[in-house]
Amino acid sequence: MAFIVTDNCIRCKYTDCVEVCPVDCFYEGPNFLAINPDECIDCSLCEPECPANAIFSEDELPEEQEVFLDLNRDLSMIWPNISEKKDSLPDASEWDGVEEKLEHLER
Ligand code: SF4
Ligand code: F3S
Repeated sequence: MAFIVTDNCIRCKYTDCVEVCPVDCFYEGPNFLAINPDECIDCSLCEPECPANAIFSEDELPEEQEVFLDLNRDLSMIWPNISEKKDSLPDASEWDGVEEKLEHLER
């Protein structure tokens, strides 16, 4: 089992999550982060750190977010690792809470 980054990370990318991950299993795209599910040790430390509440345990993943299971796995394999917090995207607060942002995901 693993933790999964979901829709509300898109266009926000606060990156608070990466600071607490003991195994550095976050990977960074232009406007979203992905967790490598094979590297995640299920410690749950990242979940409460996300200001956008975008991280879920796989077994608590809302049904409408299931598309992010494969997306986390696939994107984490092609994106570079990120282990240090950086500035969020400039208009993060405007996008935080906007529903169904998948169409805005940049690869
Ligand atoms: Fe990293 Fe733990 Fe979050 Fe998995 S649950 S991504 S190991 S902080
Ligand atoms: Fe995204 Fe939340 Fe991390 S917005 S970058 S999952 S802190």
